[in-house]
Amino acid sequence: MRWVETWMTEPSRRAPVFAIVGATGAVGVELLHCLEQRSQPLAELRLFASARSAGRQLPFRGEQLTVRELGADSFQGVDVALFSAGSATSKRFAPLAVQAGATVIDNSSAFRMDPQVPLVVPEINRAALRTHRGIIANPNCCAIISITPLWPVHQVNRIARLQLATYQAASGGGAAAMQELLESTRAYLDGREYRPQVLPHPYAFNLFSHNTRIDPVTGYNEEETKVINETRKIFGDDTIRVSATCVRVPVLRAHSVAITFECERPITPAEVRSLLQSAPGVELVDDAERNYFPMPQDASGRDPILVGRIRQDLSDPSGRSICLFVAGDQLLKGAALNALQIAEAL
Ligand code: A2P
Repeated sequence: MRWVETWMTEPSRRAPVFAIVGATGAVGVELLHCLEQRSQPLAELRLFASARSAGRQLPFRGEQLTVRELGADSFQGVDVALFSAGSATSKRFAPLAVQAGATVIDNSSAFRMDPQVPLVVPEINRAALRTHRGIIANPNCCAIISITPLWPVHQVNRIARLQLATYQAASGGGAAAMQELLESTRAYLDGREYRPQVLPHPYAFNLFSHNTRIDPVTGYNEEETKVINETRKIFGDDTIRVSATCVRVPVLRAHSVAITFECERPITPAEVRSLLQSAPGVELVDDAERNYFPMPQDASGRDPILVGRIRQDLSDPSGRSICLFVAGDQLLKGAALNALQIAEAL
């Protein structure tokens, strides 16, 4: 039974108090929308952001809620605190929220690789929630979007090796990066000069290697390293070999990923299609006749991860490797939706 129904059918339990930290951000706003759509019974919803946004009003279920500045005393009486305000804010305030009695679902990378913190995609490792000690980490958006469709395959024919090439939208950089894409595109079309303010390179009609620090030893950037490490933790499989190339593309809000995986035994595209046909959180978009495959535009604003272009990897004559292409809404399944599914699974 889903969490929301549990609250409704157990009369002895009161409706919970939720808080959103980072309510004015790209993910925060989606958390509000998702909560609104899922009609969870809430005793109260508290919205927090930085001092810059204190006093701002955001609509929720026909009312205007006032955003408050986040402080050490913000969590008294809060049952579930959804954090999406960056790692520094999570590191400082999540422990205070737990001390005050809240369960934290954190969208930042602050605690993801902490062995005591479950890192959860409910379709994959919901059972890990049982071990939580107050903080649950929401995985990296590209990790969620890439591996949710692979889990049904991994369960029947272990994936030994995984290679990813991402096409990541502006939304992963927050509301300011989305704004930069819009404004720089407008400037480009008007023939005006535009100096990038949020991202390191010109974004309109361009793409560039993900804007995170490169590890001088491995040569991988932080985003790629997150995807590699988080895949292993979520799958509970330290030996899966993963490589990733993460690239920022001028798309507003849905990430796409080209994936090649190698199983332990031979596997066919038809088997993969049949495994994914009824997989939770996944929708097949694989129409070779119309050349219609997953596109970020079709994934935007929708819950499922779109999967298509499922084909044998011709470079592996053993028949154990498959190529496919996925697109998923970074703000929904890649962030807000997954966080709320965790809350429901609790
Ligand atoms: P604010 O809008 O007041 O800056 P995004 O990921 O779209 O960039 O959004 C980040 C979110 O995190 C925003 O809601 C932002 O609030 C919030 N935020 C950033 N820094 C802090 C902070 N120090 N304390 C609380 N909220 C913060």
